[in-house]
Amino acid sequence: MTETATVFDVVGGEAFFVELVNEFYDRVSADPVLTAIYPEDLTESRRTTAGFLAQYWGGPPHYSNERGHPRLRMRHAPFRITPQARDHWLKHMLEALQISLASRTAPPEVAQMMSDYFDAGSTAMINTHSPTDGPR
Ligand code: HEM
Repeated sequence: MTETATVFDVVGGEAFFVELVNEFYDRVSADPVLTAIYPEDLTESRRTTAGFLAQYWGGPPHYSNERGHPRLRMRHAPFRITPQARDHWLKHMLEALQISLASRTAPPEVAQMMSDYFDAGSTAMINTHSPTDGPR
């Protein structure tokens, strides 16, 4: 990796992020803990998440051009994200990451950086510790 190459470039650009989120949302749609939180139709989720991640890791700012500042914690506030939901989310994302990186030649530091980001990012989205409805 040269000093100027972004993670986006190193993993293979847009196609990598599309594959990553498709692997991820295929797992989400089969997990009742997460289908309880996500919309039934995940088409938009796949699109916005791929766009956000591509931008975050150095790709073109399509997400912000369309949606404005990410403000991810605020955008997650309407959904009840418990520590259990976060753990399911992270497990699926790390599996998706491993599968998507397997066919590519990215150095191991890239896998580590992305794993660390998803770990910390998913923890930051936890907004309730109560497993049922009621005050947070
Ligand atoms: C690093 C961690 C995470 C990232 C980068 C991320 C990214 C995103 C993005 C970009 C969106 C679309 C926002 C928009 O409307 O523009 C979104 C929506 C959403 N996220 Fe996350 N998210 C993360 C963690 C989580 C976790 C831990 C959960 C639940 C366990 C979760 C559940 C949802 C739900 C339910 C939506 C709304 C449906 C949708 O618009 O797709 N997210 N997330």
